[in-house]
Amino acid sequence: MSENWHTVASVDQIDEDQPLAVKVDGNEIGIFKVNDSFYAIEDICPHAYALLTQGFIDGDNVECPLHEAVFHIPSGKCLKAPAERDLKTYPIRIEGNQVLIAL
Ligand code: FES
Repeated sequence: MSENWHTVASVDQIDEDQPLAVKVDGNEIGIFKVNDSFYAIEDICPHAYALLTQGFIDGDNVECPLHEAVFHIPSGKCLKAPAERDLKTYPIRIEGNQVLIAL
């Protein structure tokens, strides 16, 4: 099945300490930059409702701003309760200065 790529941002909109919240086809997705690589993960914390792009970034982890669940940004893995599942991740690629993700 072919993936559907969407241009969501330009690279200069995203910084290591400044992720970007985007909405694609009704999905809220966070674009993060870690060690010069870009990652697209589900932005809504699976525990309740908080945006992880408003959370606290520590290295390659992000902590939910509401109840402090922790997720690994590159893999989406849930590292700390109270969240109980991993985040969905999306394919991402850079073309020139554009950031594209696939749904
Ligand atoms: S909403 Fe994220 S840990 Fe509760």
